[in-house]
Amino acid sequence: MINLGKKISELKKRKGAVILAHSYQLPEIQGLADFVGDSLELSRKAATLEEDPIVFCGVEFMAESAKILSPQKTILLPRREAGCFLAEMIDIEGLRRLKAEHPEARVVCYVNTPADIKAESDVCCTSANAAKVVSNIEAEEIIFVPDRNLAHYVSRHTDKRIIPWDGYCYVHQRMRAYELEATKLAHPEAKVLVHPECRPEVVEMADEVLSTSGILRFCRESNNGSFIIGTEEGLIYRARLENPDKMFYPLGAPQMCAYMKVTRITDLYDSLNEEKYQIELPEDIAVKARVSLDQMLKYI
Ligand code: 13P
Ligand code: SF4
Repeated sequence: MINLGKKISELKKRKGAVILAHSYQLPEIQGLADFVGDSLELSRKAATLEEDPIVFCGVEFMAESAKILSPQKTILLPRREAGCFLAEMIDIEGLRRLKAEHPEARVVCYVNTPADIKAESDVCCTSANAAKVVSNIEAEEIIFVPDRNLAHYVSRHTDKRIIPWDGYCYVHQRMRAYELEATKLAHPEAKVLVHPECRPEVVEMADEVLSTSGILRFCRESNNGSFIIGTEEGLIYRARLENPDKMFYPLGAPQMCAYMKVTRITDLYDSLNEEKYQIELPEDIAVKARVSLDQMLKYI
């Protein structure tokens, strides 16, 4: 693995490439990346970098967002299978049906969506700015897709009527309130930080509800010495790396996103070597999806 790591660094230099990794990726992938961050940070980073190609170690919707924001660059996703359970729960026909049933409503889509859903929406949001985006839209009814838990969280922070899509992330859905109760009993001094993709009853019990980068920032800046983390286990690895003197506990059993962990170090090497798999999007979809993403960037 050490040799492969060295080969990857050499190959990257020779090709003038850069490696981006989401903070749910395997530790060895995070270790080889030039930048590690959340989905939107990485897509925005991709747009400012001079290097080309960009290897995006994450899942497909993230690499697509990078392509939408930097259409002239080569964006590589090391594994085709790196989809997202949540993003795949919505389909364009269903969204069009919902829009027809609620003609006055505007559509807000979470970044965890395929490009065609972004193109069909009025504005995108992240878990960090969802409530702000919804509150600023000039409409009383909001169709919010695809995550029902994030939609519920947003509905608690706005007066608007939220019409949710019935999707969820299987990783966060597995985190249960009774597990959080047990973890809190074992570590009563720990602050509870959860992602808004968690079930409403889990969100209700948390001290803070934050995006992945929000959780990391909170851990760095807090005077507290221990934290219970309600999100994918890769983030706990990152938090420990950044705060070696603090304690981090998963909410119940550690939960792993199989889509994020499908990318291995050999895939990263092959991706750089063979310049695969290149993200390509139909131009009309990319242009419309860009409008939704640009609208969102006003609220960052
Ligand atoms: P971020 O947008 O915070 O990177 O999270 C993406 C994700 O997949 C959460 O499960
Ligand atoms: Fe998608 Fe959930 Fe995995 Fe995030 S953790 S990439 S939302 S399946």
